[in-house]
Amino acid sequence: MEKRVFSGFRPTGKQHIGNYLGTIQNCVSLQDEYDCIYCVVDIHALTTLEGTETLQKDIYEMVLDWLAAGIDPGKCILFVQSHVPQVMELHTLFSMVTPLSWLLRVPTFKEKVKIQPHNVNYGLVGYPVLMAADIALYKGEVVPVGEDQLPHLELTREIVRRFNSTYGYVFPEPQAKLTSFPLVLGLDGLLKMSKSYNNYIEIAAPPEEILRQVMTAVTDPARRYRSDKGHPDICNIFSLHKFFTPSRVEEIASECRTADIGCVDCKKMLARSISSTLEPFREKRAILASKPDYVTEILADGANRAEALAKETMKEVKDKMRLLQLKS
Ligand code: TRP
Repeated sequence: MEKRVFSGFRPTGKQHIGNYLGTIQNCVSLQDEYDCIYCVVDIHALTTLEGTETLQKDIYEMVLDWLAAGIDPGKCILFVQSHVPQVMELHTLFSMVTPLSWLLRVPTFKEKVKIQPHNVNYGLVGYPVLMAADIALYKGEVVPVGEDQLPHLELTREIVRRFNSTYGYVFPEPQAKLTSFPLVLGLDGLLKMSKSYNNYIEIAAPPEEILRQVMTAVTDPARRYRSDKGHPDICNIFSLHKFFTPSRVEEIASECRTADIGCVDCKKMLARSISSTLEPFREKRAILASKPDYVTEILADGANRAEALAKETMKEVKDKMRLLQLKS
């Protein structure tokens, strides 16, 4: 049987090129190798959100992007965390086998305390416990994550181990699958592409918008005049060409080094490459968006399938913990 992959993603609304080249494409290819469950972690998002005005829309737009980019509900389960409330139940039970000291030393927790000192809520401390519950509820064995999530995953393994040794074996110990995400820099050429740095290009953006945004990007700072020779290795536009214009990268690099091509033309070419690479995606997205209720139906089906698995696990958990169960 195929191994079970579980991964969770915060609802960040319309996805950008960094999400696409890193996370989304990776998840699409895992669908063919594993039994995949992908979850939009709206409850996790609440630990850092200060308001929820855009939450529903953010979930909808993100799911639409994912479906249009090739996440196939025929091959995987795609659902929203809060639609399967058993995760919050398992979170509470897991909190009884999790020493507070483990949680207080998690690096992401310490960081968040610095970033939002006015909002160090109880849920924030329990963030990794909820993540452990996510993975364990569906008996996830393989968890594709970026390096920043490794401490969380280590904690999941410790929680699961402690549960199993206290109450009896229920959960496999999940393994991290470190994906070497390409580092996609933002339009500023300095920071990683991210919504929070406002330096991103949305994958659903129309070609005019892509062009407009690419034109604002920072290139090799040494090229101030058209005749200045460039250094493609340190130019962010060039690094995007590697993804979007793979057939011409060598040429572009040498034309930049000899100043045969200027930054303006180089950017225009990049904007065209991005637009044409993403054209099939935009078309599919438009079709899906035109079907009323399409996203809701996919999510309802995902929630049903996920909940069936969750119920089985919870029954087993309560049996092992000797909680009194009324129905068998
Ligand atoms: N903490 C993860 C992140 O910020 C999101 C997440 C929640 C997750 N639950 C998960 C990732 C379970 C993997 C498995 O990216």
